[in-house]
Formats: sequence, structure tokens, C-alpha cells
Amino acid sequence: MKVIIRDDAKSASVWAAHYIADKINAKAKTTDKPFVIGLCTGSTPIETYKELIALVKAGKVSFKNVISFNMDEYVGLPESHSESYHSFMHKYLFDQIDEPAGNIHILNGNAADLEKECADYEKAIVEAGGIDLFLGGIGEDGHIAFNEPFSSLNSRTRVVTLTEDTRIVNSRFFDNDVNKVPRQALSVGVATVTDSKEVVILAYGPKKARALRDAIEGPCSHVCTVSALQLHPAGTIVCDEAAIGECKLNSYKYFKAVEEAELP
Ligand code: PGA
Repeated sequence: MKVIIRDDAKSASVWAAHYIADKINAKAKTTDKPFVIGLCTGSTPIETYKELIALVKAGKVSFKNVISFNMDEYVGLPESHSESYHSFMHKYLFDQIDEPAGNIHILNGNAADLEKECADYEKAIVEAGGIDLFLGGIGEDGHIAFNEPFSSLNSRTRVVTLTEDTRIVNSRFFDNDVNKVPRQALSVGVATVTDSKEVVILAYGPKKARALRDAIEGPCSHVCTVSALQLHPAGTIVCDEAAIGECKLNSYKYFKAVEEAELP
């Protein structure tokens, strides 16, 4: 696991956007096959999306040959609802980049058969050639996508029940009324994420510090599902100083030293 630490969330977000753009460009140089990316929602990726939009507008990267799969969507929330992840992704990314509409995949939380929707999503990922890079955030409880504590580390896309904690945290988007936050979601599984060739996780602010400590220094455990990254050969955490704050000083120094040593 690599941990990239920046002074603040803004510079970490810019780093992540350039990293992703470089990966898209690198694949385009070697093959005509699309770059397949996994995407997340939440407040964390917004600055990275802003920077990616700027890079697209500056002609530094294109999403014309990118296929995307989003991590999750609430069950039963209309797609047109301002807090659906469909709305979020169009507002913060898709409406401002050149990714063809047909390349965008977001789980349908209103499908008549939710289990089929999830199984079809897994199939679509395989048919697209597998995910090259999955971009994720983490929850305060260490969840990756909506894989709450005690989700199997081998889980696949499925219907999940949100914890009370997650619903309280997300109630800030629903008039601070926890009763308005859906109780269920469709979510890719932990194994759907770790099957990707590469995983990049963003974590900012002191509220993520305990989850990040558990992910980096704790055991690989279903109690903190993002800790599954420990078993991935190409996992990177991109964080700010506040989010790394609960890790040991020696861990912090080690990650800084690794980055320094690998600078061109
Ligand atoms: P946040 O959510 O980016 O809004 O903090 C992240 C998550 O719950 O995975």
C-alpha cells in the first residue's frame, strides 16, 4: 500500500486528478481499448472531479474512450432527486466532460429486480474488460462504497442496509433529517473494488482519521472494510495531514520517505 500525504485536501485532490489523467493517457498510448474507471460520490471527490474537468477542458485528457462504473446508489430514491448519485455524478462530473453517455454506468436503485440489477452490473464490468482504476472515498466507519462494517471482504454488488451511523452522517444532504435518508442502497462489493487493477482511495479531514488508522495500521478485517486494500497489490491512499493524524509518527515518516525516494 502506498500513502500519499499532502498538506491539505485541495492539493491531495489535484494530485489524484493528475494521477488519474496520467493513467488514462498512458493506456491510450498502448491500446485502443477503453480505460475502465470506478467512480465514487460524496464530498470527498468533488475537488478531484473539478480538476479532471479542468484537464479535459484544457485538452490534457479525454474521457471519450473511458467507461465508468459508479460504486453505489440509494434504493428507492428517484434518479431525478437532487441527492441521488445519478444527479450527483451528472452535476459534478459527467455534464462537464466528454465521456459518451453510453459509457456511463450507475446502479439503478429503482430497478424492478434489484438482485438482477446487481448481477448484471458485475457482468457488465467483466464485459468491459475489468476495472483499471477504482477511485473511492471512505466512511467514518471505514466503509468502502456502502460496504458497512461486517460486510464480507469477498462481497459482490448487492443490496445493502446502511448503518444508523452512515444515515446520520449522510443526513446533512437530506435537510439534516435522518428519516429522509434511504435505509438501503445498491453497492459494489469489497471484492468488486479489490478486483480492479488499481485502487485509489481519498480521505480528508480529522473525521476520517480513525478509519484511516484502522485501514493502514489495523488488521485486514471486515470491521473496517477499506482495510481490504492491504491485500491489494496496487492500492494507494491519498490523504491530507488531518486524515493521517491518528497514525503513528513512524508510519507517517515511512510513507513520506517512500514518496521522496520514488520521485523522478
Ligand atoms: P464523504 O463520504 O466523501 O461525503 O465523506 C465518503 C463515503 O461515505 O464513502
